[in-house]
Amino acid sequence: MNIPASSPSSSSSRRDFLKTTTKTAAGLSVLSGITLPHVHAAVDDTVRMALIGCGGRGGGAASNALSVNGAPTRLVAMADVQPNRLNAAHDALSKKHPDKMSVSEDAKFIGFDAYKKAVDVLKPGDIAMFATPPAFRWVHYQYAIERGINIFMEKPLSVDGPTSKRMLELNELAKKKGLKVAVGLMCRHCKVRKDLYNRVQDGEIGDIVLARAYRMQAPVASCFSKRRPPETPELIWQIQRFHSFLWASGGAYSDFFIHNIDEACWMKNDWPVEAQASGGRTDRGEFVDQNFDHYSVEYTWKDGSKFFFEGRNITGCRNEFSTHIHGTKGNAIVSNAGHLPARSAIFKGLGRKVEDRVWSAPQPEPNPYQLEWDDFLAAIRNNEDYNEMERGVKASLVTCMGRMAAHTGQIITYDQMLNCPHEFAPGADKFTLDGPAPIRENAEGRYPVPIPGKLRDREYADAV
Ligand SMILES: NC(=O)c1ccc[n+]([C@@H]2O[C@H](COP(=O)([O-])OP(=O)(O)OC[C@H]3O[C@@H](n4cnc5c(N)ncnc54)[C@H](O)[C@@H]3O)[C@@H](O)[C@H]2O)c1
Repeated sequence: MNIPASSPSSSSSRRDFLKTTTKTAAGLSVLSGITLPHVHAAVDDTVRMALIGCGGRGGGAASNALSVNGAPTRLVAMADVQPNRLNAAHDALSKKHPDKMSVSEDAKFIGFDAYKKAVDVLKPGDIAMFATPPAFRWVHYQYAIERGINIFMEKPLSVDGPTSKRMLELNELAKKKGLKVAVGLMCRHCKVRKDLYNRVQDGEIGDIVLARAYRMQAPVASCFSKRRPPETPELIWQIQRFHSFLWASGGAYSDFFIHNIDEACWMKNDWPVEAQASGGRTDRGEFVDQNFDHYSVEYTWKDGSKFFFEGRNITGCRNEFSTHIHGTKGNAIVSNAGHLPARSAIFKGLGRKVEDRVWSAPQPEPNPYQLEWDDFLAAIRNNEDYNEMERGVKASLVTCMGRMAAHTGQIITYDQMLNCPHEFAPGADKFTLDGPAPIRENAEGRYPVPIPGKLRDREYADAV
């Protein structure tokens, strides 16, 4: 990696100038009563943004960014590997935010190198937004750091050991440059979960001895895939169906379950040291993807306390999407049914009846997808330190740890996961639209799946 460690900032000075000038001007006006120059009208404090990965979440994140009150923002460039996705996002954002869109035709970029061109439109102090499948995070992060650009990136941040390590190394460079980095684990910005966290840290439920979380649902997004249509090139098809492929997303496990795993670890204030797990594929018929459809995981924190996670993607079963913690004095709902509203609550003892409830989150709750952007833009405006990367990578790694434990049938420790040499998509920085995919279908159109007990040091065989 050849990244100069020099500090950016010709143009974070736009904001710094405004801030410093405002402070100095206020001081002078009190002290000497001099006439103030009209600097505000002359300084453009707009934060310009480039969206890389213009799908469902990319469009949503851009819309949140353009909706922040009191912080002028503008989308100036877009990049994707699929022109139809980019154009659809551009149309939708133009309808919703007509006065904040400045993406000319020559600032729409297509291809695996499109991210570079979009980032090159920005100046230090602006924001690059990454919402592709996570396989490309390290590639895009590396370039944005090199260019001195602030970054928002969606979860997960990494899907295996080598890319987790790479992200942590890259982040040291981002920190040296003072870049602001936000991570799309938006529940961390939820006001009522924060309130619960503070109450738990203050000892309201005693010491946490157990956590449990559930994401049990029907198959969603692209987690199950039938055979590839022959007219669609394999790499693009795997990207379109990225939840089906471990290299692209970490599979259903990493992509869907990370939020509940992260919020449990947040409340505990710690990351598990090991995981053991089981899981499997039931009745998968003609589906060719790499996912198990059920997972049952026991994480262990270093004080010996346990965190049980249940994940399922099966139609017709009971659904649940919630996180709970149990302490020596009481217990709490972290989230009750999805991301929003959390409906967090604290109960005494083991109880869950109304009369056991000692606190519950006031309703309605603000949307954490918006709050994460309000917080990020406030940090940029006020030039505060802001880097969520390290905890984002740790959440991604701990998620991988449970997944690998289920896929191999072994106990996987945090250090084993971090040091596991199996990189799922080596050379992700060199992919081309007509190039090969990291894994290939076999003669029946199927992809390699985990075989617990047989494959023990990697989650799937590269060759089929
Ligand atoms: N925080 C949340 O609650 C939340 C919710 C949904 C999705 N996400 C995350 O957002 C990311 C995207 O998910 P999505 O649902 O928007 O998927 P999506 O398929 O709708 O969008 C992904 C887009 O990225 C593009 N893309 C893929 N590889 C690219 C590359 N190398 N360069 C440029 N563009 C590329 C695709 O063509 C597609 O348009 C995932 O990491 C997902 O986990 C987070």
